Amino acid sequence: MADPAHSALPLHARLQRGLRQLMLDGTLAAGRPLPASRALAQSLGVSRDTVETAYSQLHAEGFITRRVGSGSLVSEQVRRLPARPAAKPQAAVPQLSRRGQAVLAQGGVRDFEPPQAFVAGVPETRNFPLHTWERLQRQVLKEYGHRALLHSPAQGLLPLRQAIADYVSLERGARATPEQVLVLTSSQQALSLCAQVLLDPGEQILIEDPVYHGARKAFEAAGLVCQPVPLDADGMQVQHLAKASSARAVFLTPSHQYPTGATLSLQRRLAVIAWAQQRQAWIIEDDYDSEFHYAGKPTACVQGLDPHERTIYIGTFSKSLFPGLRLGYMVLPPALMVSMTVARSLQDGHSAALAQLTLARFIEGGHLGAHIRTMRAVYAQRRDLLAQLLRTHLGHVLEPQVPAGGMQMACHLCGPLSETQLLTAAARAGIALIGLSSLCSGTAHPPGVLMGFAAHTPMELEAGVQQLARALRTRPLSTNR
Ligand SMILES: Cc1ncc(COP(=O)(O)O)c(C=O)c1O
Repeated sequence: MADPAHSALPLHARLQRGLRQLMLDGTLAAGRPLPASRALAQSLGVSRDTVETAYSQLHAEGFITRRVGSGSLVSEQVRRLPARPAAKPQAAVPQLSRRGQAVLAQGGVRDFEPPQAFVAGVPETRNFPLHTWERLQRQVLKEYGHRALLHSPAQGLLPLRQAIADYVSLERGARATPEQVLVLTSSQQALSLCAQVLLDPGEQILIEDPVYHGARKAFEAAGLVCQPVPLDADGMQVQHLAKASSARAVFLTPSHQYPTGATLSLQRRLAVIAWAQQRQAWIIEDDYDSEFHYAGKPTACVQGLDPHERTIYIGTFSKSLFPGLRLGYMVLPPALMVSMTVARSLQDGHSAALAQLTLARFIEGGHLGAHIRTMRAVYAQRRDLLAQLLRTHLGHVLEPQVPAGGMQMACHLCGPLSETQLLTAAARAGIALIGLSSLCSGTAHPPGVLMGFAAHTPMELEAGVQQLARALRTRPLSTNR
């Protein structure tokens, strides 16, 4: 009768549930008499009231009948309950829709594991100015009171949309008004919305090759056909766009390509804009971590260069602030705002008002700018340290491709070790690396791994590299890739 899930319940409720379970299992069959309440109370060492309360509840639910003189019997109705298998059946694979099966086959974007060495795309959160955040949140609660606890508009709250519009116009060269900003939970949500609202299943979308896996998964889950376009040091090779006659959209990370770190040249940006205008196609611009550029200012975004309003700009606070905030946004061509907002409202309604209002104040007060400036210096130092540590301890295995920005570094293999061997040895040592091959679709790309550096202190980076070096020393080398 003892079910640990019931241990927080009062005694009579535990007794009632235990007896009910015995009836459902068939152990107490219909027509069986239950012990007299006094006798059961004595044998269980509980009060008679406890047993009486349990019996009364079972009676009210129709599980037992009670008659003066003949005591309590398991009700005849129990016979009509569907028979339960004696042993718990193995978890059956549920019948999923084709879409459900496709989503399952893709797998999710991230496993939210505790921080591991070299995890990519994760910022340092341990020096986030929590006291400032807390002060601003208190201000919001004081000013808005219970209104901050209510539902709010699906498009996002005006103070935050205004702050985002000002920020992207000033810092990213976007053309944005608050009316064009749709506040979301994440860039991942933006990618899913674009896939669902702009294209039909079976239609083609051009993607970078290699590409951010979260984008490819969102597009494929929506039934789109991803057409990989090769890259070089200047980003996507746009001459290939002309060949893709039926593509309805192109996905780009122009300021800092994921995972290579390449910046799309101005000439190519203009070519993509011309292509989109000519084909009436969409440009989906994911500007996920452009704040962290370590040599001069990052290039202005494509959206600001596009006079034809074919570009959807996606931004997130997961990198510039902290991923647990769950706030991202799109800057949309005005013609798309209603449809995107409606689609978003069907997914999750809206983003949390308290977080939106606090963030608006954080941005307006200059704290976002200050935090980014601090973190830019921290990350640049960590990037350089990781490159140096890799050359010192793993120079025979990995060749770091030091990026001009971002939070992770692509490293090419330079020894006899295959990507799979490296990943297996790293995983065994509890180190999170992403294989570059897993991000490639068509074109051959040098084998290698992606290593995050932003979330680790210098000491942690050093310990991680040494741990990886040890893990590789203790595995036998072989030459197959
Ligand atoms: C290229 C790219 N876009 C988007 C994201 C996801 O950001 P969000 O947490 O806002 O979904 C990531 C995260 O790693 C990324 O690397």
